[in-house]
Amino acid sequence: MCGIVGYTGNGPAASLILDSLELLEYRGYDSAGLALKDSETGETILRKRAGRVQDLRYLCDFGSEWFNCGIGHTRWATHGGVSNDNAHPHRFGKVVLVHNGIIENYLELRDQFLLSDRLKSDTDSEIAAGVMDHFYNKNPRQAIAETVRYLKGTFSLVIMFEDIPDVIYAVRNVSPIVASYTNEGTMLASDVTALGIHAKQYMPVPEMNILELHKDAIRLYDMKGNPQACEFIDIDWDTSRASKGNYPFYMEKEIMEQPETVMKTIKSRIREGHIDLTADGIPDSILAECDSICAIACGTAMHAALTAKNIVQSRLRIKMEVECASEFIYSDPILDERTLAIVISQSGETIDTLTALKYVRSKGVRSIAVINVKGSSIARESDYVIYTDAGPEIAVASTKAFTAQIAAMMLLIGRMAVVRHALKPGEEKSFVENIMKLPEQITSVLDRRRDIHVIARQLLEAKDTFMIGRGLDYSILLEGALKLKEVSYIHTEAYASGELKHGTIALITEDIPVIAMVTQTKLISKELSNIREVKTRGANVILFLREDIDVNEAEFSKVFRLPAASDDFMVIPAVTALQLLAYYVSSDKGLDVDKPRNLAKVVTVE
Ligand code: G6P
Repeated sequence: MCGIVGYTGNGPAASLILDSLELLEYRGYDSAGLALKDSETGETILRKRAGRVQDLRYLCDFGSEWFNCGIGHTRWATHGGVSNDNAHPHRFGKVVLVHNGIIENYLELRDQFLLSDRLKSDTDSEIAAGVMDHFYNKNPRQAIAETVRYLKGTFSLVIMFEDIPDVIYAVRNVSPIVASYTNEGTMLASDVTALGIHAKQYMPVPEMNILELHKDAIRLYDMKGNPQACEFIDIDWDTSRASKGNYPFYMEKEIMEQPETVMKTIKSRIREGHIDLTADGIPDSILAECDSICAIACGTAMHAALTAKNIVQSRLRIKMEVECASEFIYSDPILDERTLAIVISQSGETIDTLTALKYVRSKGVRSIAVINVKGSSIARESDYVIYTDAGPEIAVASTKAFTAQIAAMMLLIGRMAVVRHALKPGEEKSFVENIMKLPEQITSVLDRRRDIHVIARQLLEAKDTFMIGRGLDYSILLEGALKLKEVSYIHTEAYASGELKHGTIALITEDIPVIAMVTQTKLISKELSNIREVKTRGANVILFLREDIDVNEAEFSKVFRLPAASDDFMVIPAVTALQLLAYYVSSDKGLDVDKPRNLAKVVTVE
């Protein structure tokens, strides 16, 4: 979490840093700050405060346009509450730095280096600055190398030294940093989203190397001071995607982009009617040889895995476990070399997912990562990668990344089914046709978004809701419930509807709206009976229903009909409807849809 930016060059640093921080606010938004270096006097000016980047702008009207070198930070608090003092950058002696990550041994270091009396904040980051100042003797790389030997934990540290004009230094362990040339200088950031409008290529900074940004050069050294090659990769994201356009919120824009982003993910992987993953470099052997799948992810990405599990087991008849990454390594997982690990992550930086991937690889398990951000840590760590082509996703609540993940998983499952002879040639054709229809099914839901907006109004006063369904409907409701919770703050529980009567039905009253999903042929009558059970207890039921299923609409407080597809493919129109529902509830409540309280989009702390 936390967004970091650094710039040195001939252009105005403050405006570039502030604009870039705004693009990175999804990494954390409880406080913001920047430090600018005066290249003539060498003086470093600090401005920081609790609040958003927008608030920081008000502190920067001191002629900041004359400064050409600086670093900035937008924070998601871990150590030390949200306050002006705890905002970054931190200055200690000759060191000014910003930090993303957690220094686990910060209290030990505080005592070992006798820093207590000089600290102004409660953060672990300021202690890292104190240790670096202790080692600094006009040799920045040596001070950095000495300091990181003492640090335990994850960090990306971006540093300026008081007596060195125009040069920015950085070092990282786990937490990411990327660097690039711009028209008028060089810059770095926590992720590529901030670089897109300034650069065509970027370098993911390797772990435990020291980066130097000069006005006209990017240099990389190992910890012993040996120069290292800088390897750049192309930025092929449409960077206009990182702006809101005419939409009031990124979340709405990203929901509306889905026909296009799903099509982009699919199109390049279907050739002459067949699923073809050769451009991704995924060999058929890895798909053919596994006996089981272990999927690992967090949050929305985990829901993509849970959804895929149903389809994998029914179509491929192989066992698939879905593991929440933060629990995985502590659960003594049972793995062998016939297990295929699939890790799913939008950012490719979620630390729990990365740690789990490193663990499975250490056990000799082969891995495929389904990732949105090119060159991200998880993508680089995995044996194989399928990139989703969703483009930059800015809203904290993930939408288009999820549907792109499902589309990528469908392609993977389809190809696996072909190589394992679980799909005959004729069946592959109809599988591919179903995949190709997904964008138009999303469009069919988006075109009727006003109806969903009307439904959303029924939820504005709700304190709690339940979302009920079975099978794939239940998996997709887990994602729908997460969306509604995170953006509207309504407590929402997705529940397997057959399980309600074992306790939870005690909570159903007429004040609690129940949202039901019915799309799966083999479950229709069971799901409808479960809905009757809650209606009998007074619940008002809002029903999302596949359009060709017959019900008496008068029995429901609202019904939304989803375009019909074969069962496995209903998940995409279904989730689109639930995304819109969450979005409208949040925006109608006047909430900050894109930046829900307490959250960050990229979770780089355990
Ligand atoms: C955070 C985000 C979620 C996301 C999860 C996993 O909690 O707010 O939207 O699903 O992290 O992130 P990843 O980047 O690994 O998909």
